[in-house]
Amino acid sequence: MSRINRRRFLSSSAAAIGAGAAAASASAKAPEILVRRPHPCVVSSANGYPHCTSKAMEGIIAGKPVVDAVVEGVTLVENDPKDMSVGYGGLPNEEGVVQLDASVMDGVSCLSGAVGCIENIKNPAKVALHVMRYTDHCLIVGEGAKRFAKAHGFKEENLLTERARKAWLRWKASLSERDDWFPKDTGRADPDLEKVKGTYGTINCNGVNSEGDVAGVTTTSGLSWKIPGRVGDSPIIGAGLYVDGDHGAAGSTGRGEANIISCGSFSVVEAIRKGMHPKDACVYAARNIVRLTRAKHLVRKDGKPNFNVKFYAVDKKGRHGGAAIWSGGKYAAFDADGNRRIDFAYALER
Ligand code: GLY
Repeated sequence: MSRINRRRFLSSSAAAIGAGAAAASASAKAPEILVRRPHPCVVSSANGYPHCTSKAMEGIIAGKPVVDAVVEGVTLVENDPKDMSVGYGGLPNEEGVVQLDASVMDGVSCLSGAVGCIENIKNPAKVALHVMRYTDHCLIVGEGAKRFAKAHGFKEENLLTERARKAWLRWKASLSERDDWFPKDTGRADPDLEKVKGTYGTINCNGVNSEGDVAGVTTTSGLSWKIPGRVGDSPIIGAGLYVDGDHGAAGSTGRGEANIISCGSFSVVEAIRKGMHPKDACVYAARNIVRLTRAKHLVRKDGKPNFNVKFYAVDKKGRHGGAAIWSGGKYAAFDADGNRRIDFAYALER
């Protein structure tokens, strides 16, 4: 192993084993060049803990491009039928059809790729990566996105699990007493559906390696029971994801419409570019949404938003942060101190 490679390995592996003490003692003895290197780090929404963050860090330590590493991380969650906000098992639209959105952005090449409203393809984040790598486009939607995926060898499959179908049917049949859909009265609650709620759930994952390369990915089944064709913030560059290779990466989960209107992830990365710590930059974007939320159906009696949006960010130096509009909750991070969940900063106290 050459001197510089050994240094890279030491710097990376200290983070990989999650040994804060080991990292600190290595740094104490290290030449200046090592101390200045960013520690690799990965952040994600809480549903990325522990597997997505771990897989992404594994890829970064193995020297894969950061954009591939974070996509490999979220792919685990897309494949998990228990996560009903993403990929296989995601909650469907109002017609019972699962439509997925995803985007990737790479700070090294300054390129992005995304798909919107793609049906029957389990891993939209990987398709987004193909859009970035193998086309001159940024966003492909609907039937065209599916055909593009199939042309690249992605399999068409049913993404609606039994649990998601039952949750959709329960919603559909309870909409109105004036239509012809009757709720199934089984006399007892279905334990399978106890914890299923309508959701904006999503996964975002951003990473930085010891070279300071940054990248991010956001993938989702979007708002449950949405109007067919609705596209949220996740595949919109600047809203659900933004990466500036010279400064940092940020992504978001929560009410996509608010994030689109405020260019949420772009505003986080711009704040980092102007010198803010990623955590403060996330709070800045959350406050911005509070400021821009005025429509009656979106505010409580006290004028504050009746929804939540959460931001996750890393900068090129290897620092990270997460913040939400409302206090409470955690984000996932894997850095020199290990793979763990961390309290969000916030704009408003519950
Ligand atoms: N943030 C996910 C969505 O609104 O679709």
